[in-house]
Amino acid sequence: MLLWSLVSTHVWGPGSVLLILVFLLRLSVRLWYKCHLWDLQHCCTDLTGKTAVVTGATSGIGKAVSQELARRGARVILACRNRERGQWALAEIQAASKDACLLLGEVDLSSMASIRSFAQWLLQECPEIHLLVNNAAVCGLPKKLTPEGLDLTFATNYVGPFLLTNLLQGALQRAGSARVVNVSSFMHTSGYIDEEHLTGAGRPLTFNQNYYCSKLLLTSFTGELARRLQGTGVTVNSVHPGVVYTKIMNQFPWSYRFLFWLSSFFIKDPQQGANPILYVSLAKELDGISGKYFSSSCVITLPHKAAQDPHVAQSLWNASVKLTHLNKAD
Ligand SMILES: NC(=O)c1ccc[n+]([C@@H]2O[C@H](COP(=O)([O-])OP(=O)(O)OC[C@H]3O[C@@H](n4cnc5c(N)ncnc54)[C@H](OP(=O)(O)O)[C@@H]3O)[C@@H](O)[C@H]2O)c1
Repeated sequence: MLLWSLVSTHVWGPGSVLLILVFLLRLSVRLWYKCHLWDLQHCCTDLTGKTAVVTGATSGIGKAVSQELARRGARVILACRNRERGQWALAEIQAASKDACLLLGEVDLSSMASIRSFAQWLLQECPEIHLLVNNAAVCGLPKKLTPEGLDLTFATNYVGPFLLTNLLQGALQRAGSARVVNVSSFMHTSGYIDEEHLTGAGRPLTFNQNYYCSKLLLTSFTGELARRLQGTGVTVNSVHPGVVYTKIMNQFPWSYRFLFWLSSFFIKDPQQGANPILYVSLAKELDGISGKYFSSSCVITLPHKAAQDPHVAQSLWNASVKLTHLNKAD
């Protein structure tokens, strides 16, 4: 009895207070997001007859985005690097909405050869593409070169989306009205632009700066592509989803992952993280809006200064064309 009263006062007492506090905090975070997220339920955009391509649809934000697009009637191409994980995601989305029209496509965005063969297949399957969400990315990887001589992080997060979008440009334009959504990160503001990074050279990078810099390149590319596609009916924007509990930090040391797990009670879940991306993909009021960077609150925000500079963007574009051997025949 004495032991029980000791435990209940000294352990269960403070323990339950802590649990209640965590619960209340979690509840207020949920309520806050409910009030501050874009009102998806009131968006009446119907995607019946439209084709959407989502890269990195096996998990996290990409899967949540694909699910909502499919629910709205789009034919969704789940562009995944791993067939098995892709099939799992497809089955899960199909189970959630029985009428979903889904197609699995295999692409490793760190490989230019894989992107070219995926694009070739995709253009045969879908001559018109109404929405391309460049969502796939890696984070926390050390410097490593791909067999094609690119830095793995820059290849996946920037060169891949650059090449894929360019290869699909014809199909996007044929759709009459189409959107490209590049999933960036607010951490791009901690990056800087050095084209040499693409091939693993350039100024040294501190821990995870390769991720920040690659997202800055993606944001700069957004502006340049928007300028080039003016008047074609294709708009291009980038967006920060917010801090979202996904497997994005799986490559980090365990201490970081543990802190991320602890924070998972207070940050967005993948559905909430998908919200700003769905806003940029679906909202009618964004018709014709192009070359912008959206914050996680769905507000047009100025990106890093380097991403606003058209000269920097043009130079990056030229370097990327050279690197990917993109030519007029593509
Ligand atoms: N989570 C956040 O807090 C946060 C914050 C800011 C921005 N973002 C951005 O949000 C996007 C989605 O991330 P997430 O949080 O949902 O992370 P995630 O759960 O790790 O999803 C990343 C997706 O990218 C795919 N992927 C990685 N490398 C690939 C490659 N070489 N080829 C094809 N697919 C590849 C992964 O496929 P596998 O299943 O095969 O690994 C996975 O489907 C990313 O662009 C990320 O930078 C996330």
